[in-house]
Amino acid sequence: MKASISSTSHYAPKKTLTNLDLEKIIDTSDEWIKTRTGIEKRHIIGENEATSDMATNIALDLLKKSKLKPEQIELIIVCTVTPDHFAPSTAAIVQNNIGAHNAWGYDLSAACTGFLYGLETGSKFIESGKYNNAMIIGLDAMSTIMDYADRNVCILFGDGGGGAILEKSDKDYGIIDSLLRMDGSGGKYLIVPGGGSRMPTSLKTIKERNHFLKQDGKTIFKFAVKGMADVSAEILNRNNLSGNDIDLFIPHQANKRIIDATSKRCGISNDKVVININEYGNTTAGTIPIAINESVNSGRLSEGSILLLAAFGAGFTWGSMIIRWGKQL
Ligand code: ACO
Repeated sequence: MKASISSTSHYAPKKTLTNLDLEKIIDTSDEWIKTRTGIEKRHIIGENEATSDMATNIALDLLKKSKLKPEQIELIIVCTVTPDHFAPSTAAIVQNNIGAHNAWGYDLSAACTGFLYGLETGSKFIESGKYNNAMIIGLDAMSTIMDYADRNVCILFGDGGGGAILEKSDKDYGIIDSLLRMDGSGGKYLIVPGGGSRMPTSLKTIKERNHFLKQDGKTIFKFAVKGMADVSAEILNRNNLSGNDIDLFIPHQANKRIIDATSKRCGISNDKVVININEYGNTTAGTIPIAINESVNSGRLSEGSILLLAAFGAGFTWGSMIIRWGKQL
C-alpha cells in the first residue's frame, strides 16, 4: 500500500513587502539582500488574516481539486510554527472551517522541515491500511514573529504555504525513501525565546523583544548547507541514484546560496532546481509545498517524475525525501 499525492495547492497573501519597502524601515539595501539571499520580496498577511485563514484557503482549494467531499477527509496535519493559538490547534480550526466533520488531526512543529515531517507521518497513516486519505498543509505567518527592527532576521522571511492530499494508491507512486533528522543541540541558534512555559509572557519579555525570532545567521548558514547536502547525497547514494536521475529538486528556500551549494554537492544541474525565493522569501514550512504546487502548475512535475526534496530548519530539524510523482486529479 502506497500513499500518493493526488492534489496540491498553495496560497500567498496579496500584500507584499519588497526590499525597497524594507530600505525605508531598516538600514539595508535591495542590492545587499538580493546578493546575500536571492530574495526580492515577501508576501505578508493582512490585518485580519491568520495562519488558519491561509490554511483554510489551501484546504478548500485542495478539496475543489480532489474528488473528496469535506466529510470524507480522515486526517488533517497542519505543519507550522506560527499557529493561531497554543490551543486549539490550527488543524482543528481548519477542520471546522472546511466542514471536515469526520477528520481528526493535529499541528506538527518542525519549522522549515515541517512539510517533510508531515508527508512522512501522513504517508505512514495511510500505509498502515487504516486510513484512506490525509490532508497535509505546511505554512507559516512568519511576519507575526518578526522584529522589523532587526535587519539580520526580518529581511529573510515571508508568509504563505501550501498543501497536498495524500491518498491510497496501488501504483508505485509516493515516497520512495525518506531521511529525517533532528539535533536539539542546535535549538539555541534559531529560537523564539518568550511566550512558552520556559519564559511566560510578561511585561519584561515584551520589553526585551523576546517574542520575536532570534537567530545566529552565520551558524545556521553553515549547518544548513552541510545538513541539506549531506542528507540529499546520502539518500541518493543509498538508492543508487545520482543527481542525473532526479527530474526535479525542490529544496527549502532559505537562501539562494544554500540552495546552490546543495545542488552543486549533489550534482544536480541548475535547470532541475526549483527556486522561487525571489518571490516569497523564507515561508518556513511553506516553502516546499508552494514550490511543489507551482511546479505542478507549470508542468515541471508530472506523472512518473522523480522528485528530490530537502529542508533544514529550527530544532535543528532537517531531511530529504525522494518521491515518485503520481497522477494529479
Ligand atoms: N542589510 C545590510 N547589511 C546587513 C544586513 C542587512 N539586512 N544584515 C546584516 N548586515 C551586515 C552585517 O551587520 C555585517 O556587517 P559587518 O561586517 O559590518 O559586521 C555584514 O552585513 C555581513 O554580515 P554577515 O552576517 O557576514 O552576512 P552573511 O553573508 O552571513 O549573510 C545571512 C547573512 C543572510 C543572514 C546568512 O548568514 C544566512 O542566510 N544565514 C541563514 C539564516 C537562515 O536561513 N535562517 C532561516 C531559518 S533556518 C533555514 O531556513 C535554513
